[in-house]
Amino acid sequence: MCGIFGCVLNDGNAAPIIHAALKKLEYRGYDSVGEATLHNGELCIKKDQGKIDEVHKIHNLDDLPGNLGVGHTRWATHGAPLEVNAHPHVDCSGGIAVVHNGIIENFVELKLELENHGHVFKSKTDTEVIPHLIEETLKANPSLSLTDAVLETVRKLDGSYAIAVISTKEPDKIVCARYESPLVIGVNENAVYCASDIPAFLPLTNRAVIIEDGELVVLSPEGFEIRKIADSSVVVREPKLIDWTPQMAVKQGYPHFMLKEIHEQPACLRNTLRLQEHYLDLMATFLDRAREVFLVACGTSYHACLAASYMFSKLAFLATYPVIASEFVEQHGKSVNIDSTILTVSQSGETADTLASVNCARERAATVLGLTNAIGSTLTRVSRVYIGQQSGPEIGVAATKTFTSQLSVMAQVALRLAKKRGKVSQDEMDFLAEKLDKLPDTVEAIIQTQEEKAKQIAKKYKDAKTFFFLGRGISSATAYEGRLKLMEIAYVPSIAFPAGESKHGPISLVEQGFPVVFICPKDGTRRTLIGNIMEMKARGASIIAVVEEGDEEIKKLADEYMEVPKGIPEVLSPIPYVVPLQLLAYYMAIEKGHNPDTPRNLAKSVTVK
Ligand code: M6R
Repeated sequence: MCGIFGCVLNDGNAAPIIHAALKKLEYRGYDSVGEATLHNGELCIKKDQGKIDEVHKIHNLDDLPGNLGVGHTRWATHGAPLEVNAHPHVDCSGGIAVVHNGIIENFVELKLELENHGHVFKSKTDTEVIPHLIEETLKANPSLSLTDAVLETVRKLDGSYAIAVISTKEPDKIVCARYESPLVIGVNENAVYCASDIPAFLPLTNRAVIIEDGELVVLSPEGFEIRKIADSSVVVREPKLIDWTPQMAVKQGYPHFMLKEIHEQPACLRNTLRLQEHYLDLMATFLDRAREVFLVACGTSYHACLAASYMFSKLAFLATYPVIASEFVEQHGKSVNIDSTILTVSQSGETADTLASVNCARERAATVLGLTNAIGSTLTRVSRVYIGQQSGPEIGVAATKTFTSQLSVMAQVALRLAKKRGKVSQDEMDFLAEKLDKLPDTVEAIIQTQEEKAKQIAKKYKDAKTFFFLGRGISSATAYEGRLKLMEIAYVPSIAFPAGESKHGPISLVEQGFPVVFICPKDGTRRTLIGNIMEMKARGASIIAVVEEGDEEIKKLADEYMEVPKGIPEVLSPIPYVVPLQLLAYYMAIEKGHNPDTPRNLAKSVTVK
């Protein structure tokens, strides 16, 4: 996730306005920053790695000349957070500058084609193909307008994008386009703005136009014109008045970052489906070669590892050992060796316990693989291969969207490994790949239909003293994650364990009205799970079930239920089944009057052991 901004002013300097807008977008990414303006027919650029304030201190982002320009604050996806990879990116002539938020899936093919035509690339980004493609289009047809050249260019792009393009060819315009990355326009009497998000221009205007997927917009001193990318036809849309306070604006109208991030999951899952296949394959190859594989992480990332161990076992017949990072050195530090591989999972890539495990593994010559949301983090620097999970910055202390993205990446790696090892048929592969592709829509549907239900259940159980979270098989990982969410933000002591363990001790806690959350996908564990539900009911427990739509048998046993669409394969089930639990935890925290974004005693990134 990155932030883009652009403005065409009737008069005055664009640079300080771009700088201020980028500060408002900093929550979208902050590993590098850049600006480009047009002045006297020349493109002027400043960019560097580092946070906006750091870069401003060195380069002064306010003194670029010109009344028109674009800016970018970056969250690295392709290419490390270095000056050369910072936006704007330019063509060979240095006359076209582009800022981009999104992922161009076919950039490798496009880059090769452009290199064959003599284009020289400077960065490792996917974005850089865009200015070169525009340049190539104009070279082939010099009479084209900048707008038509951008139209032709974006028609060749696969993936997601919100772009803003400026060029010395038409120095009074910004051409923007959108597909699956947000883009909004702001207007007032003195200027027109484009941005990834409304807060960027909210101090300047509250009149905004939301740009839809497949649309292009031209900003000029005359205002803005929207066209459809498919057929260039003009779209008429009037600005809307935005009545958000600046506080609400940063959260896009949501009361908390956590709720915003829960709602972002469909978009994040779509992004994880755009990962470069090469890295997924590489990771699968390393796992295939390993004599023993440890999956090492803390907290929510550990729960992703736990679920992944079922995926690797069930799909690829590979035994892996999920280990809580703070125990790794004690438990395996002496035995880990050159034949061991540790797949380390960390949203931040900076968790001290996780990095300590990595250090131990490296000292003993084991192979370290990484999965993280922070490109440029320590984990990316010490891993033999790493995958960036593309979730965008997560501000809420409770991990939500990063968990479901981690699971999606792991499922993709497990599928590739299964294929490599010949453990799944082509039909099975196709079936699972199709189900994985549909998960963003499934999660969207769950959020739409179950949020109200979660709210009601939270209201009813807000005074409960303790909760159980139970599942069997891969759903025990979902249970652990549901329990962690409820404990960390609603401060409700909760216990999770594989449901089969109840009668080995914990069931002694159960008495009339004791709430027990059961995760009940229709998989091979269903019959025994129903037995576990019966055991709890017999002792007076209140059953809250997360069930498949239409599962009347479990619905009848449950006091409350939240539903998930039908037909989710077992190995993918933690992704949709955790969503009602995230919502339940969120609304429990609200009911109890706690701020879910900043739970007491916790930090987003735990950099001490
Ligand atoms: O950045 P990491 O994924 O390494 O963080 C691990 C845990 O600290 C983190 O998941 C923590 O448990 C969250 N508060 C869970 O919501």
